Amino acid sequence: MRKIVVLFSILTAVASVISGSVAQDMSPEEQAAAAVAQRKALFQTIVYNIRPIGAMAQGAPFDAEVAARNGRRIAVMATMIPEMLALDTSDFDNIETTALDSIWDNQDDIAEMAQALIDNANAFSEAAETGDMGATLGAFRGLGGSCGNCHDTYRIDTD
Ligand code: HEC
Repeated sequence: MRKIVVLFSILTAVASVISGSVAQDMSPEEQAAAAVAQRKALFQTIVYNIRPIGAMAQGAPFDAEVAARNGRRIAVMATMIPEMLALDTSDFDNIETTALDSIWDNQDDIAEMAQALIDNANAFSEAAETGDMGATLGAFRGLGGSCGNCHDTYRIDTD
């Protein structure tokens, strides 16, 4: 009997976590704010992984393993970009975002740019897996270029 009670309370806790993430009770503004927070978190985690690679390009000791691993991580995270940029969040002026409104009508282009990032991140990792520093840092240009391409088109210039 006690086991059943414990199991039931676990199931209830899991169900409440899941329903929270489905955002049923959220207003459209809250949903937009959550979507913006979510996409910023994704990009922050992408940049967290690219930072050590950028440091290597600037003369920090070359670590092929970290480069290869982080490139693969970025490739996987980039598969989420189209999903993260799907919800039009432009209706709410008090939500802070650097996303341009042209995103919402250009989803195919966003998907292509995300795919370019995936391909370049994987190519970067393949270069790193050979252990060749020159080839790896050369491939880093392609990887970084995929970030810049999308930012130049779809993000307010923050530089
Ligand atoms: C397909 C488009 C696209 C690609 C590819 C892309 N980004 Fe972005 N990125 C955006 C958009 C749009 C925003 C603005 C998000 C917002 O403010 O709501 C953004 C925001 C960011 C931010 C700021 C997040 C914040 O907290 O405000 C960072 C950092 C970032 N991107 C890094 C990167 C890096 C590094 C890459 C490449 C490895 C990359 N992005 C690739 C579209 C892209």
